[in-house]
Amino acid sequence: MRSNLVAGNWKMCGDSASIGKLVANLKALLPAEPGVDIAVFPPSVYIVQVVGGLAGSPVGVGAQNVCEQPKDGAFTGEVSAAMLADAGCRYVIVGHSERRAMYEDSSERVAQKASQALVQGLTPIICVGETEAQRDDGSTLQVIAGQLDAVFAVLSAEAMRGIVVAYEPVWAIGTGKTATPSQAQEVHAFIRALFAKKDELLAKGLRILYGGSVKAANAGELFAQADIDGGLVGGASLDAQEFSAICRAAE
Ligand code: G3P
Repeated sequence: MRSNLVAGNWKMCGDSASIGKLVANLKALLPAEPGVDIAVFPPSVYIVQVVGGLAGSPVGVGAQNVCEQPKDGAFTGEVSAAMLADAGCRYVIVGHSERRAMYEDSSERVAQKASQALVQGLTPIICVGETEAQRDDGSTLQVIAGQLDAVFAVLSAEAMRGIVVAYEPVWAIGTGKTATPSQAQEVHAFIRALFAKKDELLAKGLRILYGGSVKAANAGELFAQADIDGGLVGGASLDAQEFSAICRAAE
């Protein structure tokens, strides 16, 4: 049986004061022993502050990106997987649609990022998803398959036991237009079937999160779907009340 995971992607939001308040509120609102895995993803400059603030709590911390280089060195502005692990991260988001669109994170680079994360003992959350135009022209599944082909080309079945996948339809991110439970379930089932072709057991244990305007009001219906194993939450994760309600819905 897969345990659910609820991840809060804070994106490029907050400062040390507001993040300190958010962490304090999350600690006050989240149960000491939640029936779901929970993780938050601050901007990288606040990771150490959040790791310290959440010390002793069951909430994990992750980064929103990682460098794909296998070794530290002359990569100005980049942060390595080893550094993220050293800072106390347990997870890292790779291939978020915003990075694919604005920072040229190709599927090949995303697969390399995931590989480096695994080497350093981090759990990569590999994001896939189609644009509105791709959904409208009926190429959603083809797009998702193409994004995952790059992962299959780089990671062994054994290595893939350590990953999480997040399906984030681009047209649902930050728009309030959430995918319907059946729309999301269709793509999640397709993703699981792709992994099953590699390794049945891997597919059974793979956690596939849904992301794209997840709110407390819609989380329960989404998480009730057979192949949805939690959520990757953006805007709602910056509100401790809302985020803790989403976590409760995933228990
Ligand atoms: O990574 C999660 C994010 O892309 C979803 O954002 O604001 O639609 O929950 P939001």
